Amino acid sequence: MSEQKHSPEIILLDWRSTRPLQSGVIHLYVVPISGIPHNESELNFMLNQDEHARADRFINPEHGRNFRKVRGLLRHLLTQYVDVAPQILEFNYTEYGKPFLKGGADLQFNLSHSRDMVAYAFSLDHELGVDIEYMRPQKDLDGMIRYVCSEKEQVELKAMKEEEVMDAFYRLWTRKEAFIKACGRGLGMGLRSIHVGTGESRLPLVVEYKNKILPMWFMQDIKPPINYKMAISSNYPNDI
Ligand SMILES: CC(C)(COP(=O)(O)OP(=O)(O)OC[C@H]1O[C@@H](n2cnc3c(N)ncnc32)[C@H](O)[C@@H]1OP(=O)(O)O)[C@@H](O)C(=O)NCCC(=O)NCCS
Repeated sequence: MSEQKHSPEIILLDWRSTRPLQSGVIHLYVVPISGIPHNESELNFMLNQDEHARADRFINPEHGRNFRKVRGLLRHLLTQYVDVAPQILEFNYTEYGKPFLKGGADLQFNLSHSRDMVAYAFSLDHELGVDIEYMRPQKDLDGMIRYVCSEKEQVELKAMKEEEVMDAFYRLWTRKEAFIKACGRGLGMGLRSIHVGTGESRLPLVVEYKNKILPMWFMQDIKPPINYKMAISSNYPNDI
């Protein structure tokens, strides 16, 4: 039984043209935040008090505006799958802050934003985590590598040409964050305790956590917008 055979199909969609979500499939939307239509009165109506309060807490008003746009589009996309008006949707949060729909049946979703991009992923039957990162130069790349990478990965990175290291580092970072987010946990899981390896791959990758292979989970790179890295992590259905 190959892992590839059972991994969900990841379908990249335009947010203006959603389609019904089927079992065994992940819908993914990658959207420039600056391109999300911004209708203040619609957003005022659609978002709840908590979301408005959160938007207002950003020191930079542009960040607050972006949060509202990202939430507005999340509500719009969710409404395509659960057939409830966007302003009626209610969220709950895991103890680590992962949002899920109150009474949302089997719908799973996750989102990630960085700089001007936001990625949303939806599935009926798979736990999901998505991560997108803008590849900004790191002031202390070596320190970040020690924080994010397992010992084996650090050795792999040391053997690389200098110009390849940043790319490989962000590849690892997004894979691991996607996995942490799929588990619904936080960075306290320990990025260094997750091992996935630095190599490029279009296939689902095996996840190792605390030196044990987790056969129910995979991570997968997604072709990112230029200057970004992006990955999804998810689990296989329980019946394997
Ligand atoms: C999950 C986490 C790794 C994401 O960090 P990030 O790369 O900065 O953020 P991303 O843009 O990729 O993702 C943010 C989105 O993921 C979702 N999210 C938040 N917490 C999440 C979690 N624990 N698991 C999965 N998804 C989560 C939210 O939708 C959030 O969007 P929002 O901020 O607009 O509401 C980080 O926020 C974290 O470690 N959180 C846990 C904090 C914690 O341990 N809290 C315990 C209580 S003290």
